[in-house]
Amino acid sequence: MPRRRTQRPRPAAEPAQDMVSVRVRINGVEYSHVVEPRLLLVNYIRDVVGLTGTHVGCDTSHCGACTVLVKGLWGDGWMAVKSCTLLAAQVDGKEILTIEGLAKNGELHPLQRAFWENHGLQCGFCTPGMIMAALGLLLRNPNPTREEIKWGISGNLCRCTGYVNIIKSIEDAAKEMREKGVTI
Ligand code: FES
Ligand code: FES
Repeated sequence: MPRRRTQRPRPAAEPAQDMVSVRVRINGVEYSHVVEPRLLLVNYIRDVVGLTGTHVGCDTSHCGACTVLVKGLWGDGWMAVKSCTLLAAQVDGKEILTIEGLAKNGELHPLQRAFWENHGLQCGFCTPGMIMAALGLLLRNPNPTREEIKWGISGNLCRCTGYVNIIKSIEDAAKEMREKGVTI
């Protein structure tokens, strides 16, 4: 006689998470969305807003590929942050700058130009995060020493360039930014 299978009761469906509203200004454009509270800022920027210049290299706060600038997070000014270390909900009401917001009227930002001209990149994967980290440094310290530059990008990993040309690019950009009074 065939054995009857006993059916296990199905697990109850997970209760829906409470959603949260996020209103931010990214590269001068206002965005407003309702998202899951657990959504990381980097995933919000890439997958919800659609700005994929901010990269995900590790998701564990080691590589810096996801670096963006956030204004008013701690104090009033801009600060470079790894966007995989923040929740989208934590930047509600804040202003954000990503790599897409740097060029103005078709003109590259001095940092973008300097990376281009000094071969500060090879595959380019780390570059958006590297440039945003460098910009965070130069906004705080417009005339950094080489040691200060190394410290400023110490949270950003590059597997290609060996860093020499990255540092050269940042020195070059810092000079141009000082001479022309360029910030963001
Ligand atoms: S993705 Fe690597 S530090 Fe954020
Ligand atoms: S240029 Fe390839 S990881 Fe930096």
